[in-house]
Amino acid sequence: MLLYPFRSSRVLRFLPLLPTMVLPLFAADGGATVQPVDRVGWQADYASRFEQVRHAFLPARDKVITVFVNPAAATVTTLEQLPYPAGAVIVFEWADPQKDATGKPHQDADGKVLKGPITRIDVMRREPGYGADYGKDRAGEWEFASYFPDGRSMALPDGAVACARCHKGAGSERDFVFASRFPKKN
Ligand code: HEC
Repeated sequence: MLLYPFRSSRVLRFLPLLPTMVLPLFAADGGATVQPVDRVGWQADYASRFEQVRHAFLPARDKVITVFVNPAAATVTTLEQLPYPAGAVIVFEWADPQKDATGKPHQDADGKVLKGPITRIDVMRREPGYGADYGKDRAGEWEFASYFPDGRSMALPDGAVACARCHKGAGSERDFVFASRFPKKN
């Protein structure tokens, strides 16, 4: 996950044009196409509508992460039930930790680091036939997308194919999902 919010003013200027950019983009290494149309979709009010299944502070990234699953994905509660059903959506939210004056993350009584501003929302959706455009980087039937907290698409330097390439490493036995409600796969 070396991809961080791409905030240069040049990119921001082009963001409103993205939906009209229909030419497929080509990845430098394998010729895999990055799907030009977002078939994942912004998940409005995910925090109140979806079940929260994971919350952690990742010190190496200095971020608080929270994972939410929609009702279809929430039907999978044991690893034996994998793969996820069609319509499964998993939301991976990144937030800055709240910090005290010395820069130390604020923790509650249980040692949980408190969430500050949300910086980015990664989403994966599973549907029949999804992921084919990722070519050799395909991670099952999932497609991936990233959003700003207000729901605008976030343009990523290497497109969604980079998400698939890494999630492929979670393996088919985990349906290409690293953790969510299960212990993290390393
Ligand atoms: C370099 C590897 C890597 C890349 C690139 C990557 N991810 Fe992930 N992703 C992970 C790992 C590892 C986790 C588990 C993190 C945890 O729970 O601590 C994860 C978790 C997730 C989850 C929660 C479900 C799960 O697998 O546990 C979603 C949703 C997700 N990523 C979406 C995306 C999207 C969208 C992109 C591209 C914008 C992306 N990821 C790029 C490695 C990656």
